[in-house]
Amino acid sequence: MNNFEYYNPVRIIFGEGQIKKLSELVPEQARVLITYGGGSAKRTGTLDEVKAALTANGTRTIFEFGGIEPNPEFTTLLKAADMVNRERIDFILAVGGGSVIDGSKFVALVSSLTEADGTVSREQAWAALTSYVVKVDRAVDLGAVLTIPATGSEMNAGGVVNYSERHAKLPFRNPLAYPKFSILDPAKTLTLPENQVMNGIADAYVHVMEQYLTYPANAKVQDAFSESLLKILIEEGPEVKQQPSNIEIRKNIMWTATMALNGLIGSGVPQDWTTHMIGHELTSLYGIDHARTLTIVLPSLMRELKDSKKEKLLQYARNVWAITNPQGNMSEDEIIEAAIVETENFFKSLGLPVRLADAGLDESAIPAVLKQLKEHGMVALGEHKQNDLAVSQRILERAVN
Ligand code: NZQ
Ligand code: ZN
Repeated sequence: MNNFEYYNPVRIIFGEGQIKKLSELVPEQARVLITYGGGSAKRTGTLDEVKAALTANGTRTIFEFGGIEPNPEFTTLLKAADMVNRERIDFILAVGGGSVIDGSKFVALVSSLTEADGTVSREQAWAALTSYVVKVDRAVDLGAVLTIPATGSEMNAGGVVNYSERHAKLPFRNPLAYPKFSILDPAKTLTLPENQVMNGIADAYVHVMEQYLTYPANAKVQDAFSESLLKILIEEGPEVKQQPSNIEIRKNIMWTATMALNGLIGSGVPQDWTTHMIGHELTSLYGIDHARTLTIVLPSLMRELKDSKKEKLLQYARNVWAITNPQGNMSEDEIIEAAIVETENFFKSLGLPVRLADAGLDESAIPAVLKQLKEHGMVALGEHKQNDLAVSQRILERAVN
């Protein structure tokens, strides 16, 4: 296990009916900007519930900024950042999923990058995004009300922003982006369409795999925790499909997704993230949901990199899929392939794609992905920093059919 420092300041308020605690969590005199997406927060009544809690006490002044897209757009977010300055906002409350929370984190970070006229400098904000670690020393305080378990954004300091005009979908991070608190009410996920529930399970699953499926680091706590998170998703995925209104299942899925990317299982261990970097380009180019790009790429990445990942693949087969080869008649390659097939079948059981063809793409889609990977400097990916464009190309070619 490598040296590490683990710091996570996010206060989590978990459970049904917890939105009313906003009256205690948001400063009573705050000038609050509530941010939300395309309409689900309004449609589901969550926005009204949030506003009722904020007006239950104190003298808060409330503003709203809606329309943050799935895969939040840079240009939209900069309008919200201008509003933060224009209305002297001192608390941003994100109501939604990863897109709204990520977008609001970015707004909180770049709002201080102002021109003389008080608007936020688009060039400085773009430079901040492309530098990955956003170089600012102050940010607007942020809280979140999570409505879709998937990304873990509610308990981490990172995010992803899309800039369609520049054909870019880029990750960013800064410790100032940790939400002060996140309210996780599992009842709020009951209105999710099934495809989004499945997206969330897949995104959380691959988050764990990015931090687990690398090479042994004697990280027994992280490995055992990761394997448990994977097994919970394998169990609860089909269950929630059968019983969509079962709140107990929703609770486990919600907390698993948060734990999958709050830094804990990633501390002190090598991490990959190749699947995600290739996935971001597939979303940016072809509009495929984030999670579905991952279920397309991961199985082919596992096959392409089975030699460098062999020991963890065998551990994954044994501890997650109980492939123990009792008769001793399976080769290591056969055990590994069996685990990859189990992974594919799990994704398929949730109605998720596992090939580019499942998303209507063929090998002609590959050159543009490689071009954007190169433009975004994604040419030495993975736990060994050796996954160059040729490796990404082979992974994508494997993923066609
Ligand atoms: O836009 P609205 O109307 O709110 O509808 C949303 C959106 O269309 C809908 N939705 C959300 N909660 C709902 C609901 N519909 C009904 N009932 C509810 N309770 O679901 C759709 C998807 O929402 P979105 O926020 O885009 O989904 P998700 O949470 O999966 O976020 C995806 C974004 O997160 C980024 C992805 O790249 C993508 O941009 N990620 C963020 C990460 C992080 N911060 O650590 C890591 C991840 O790997 C990921 O990259
Ligand atoms: Zn993800």
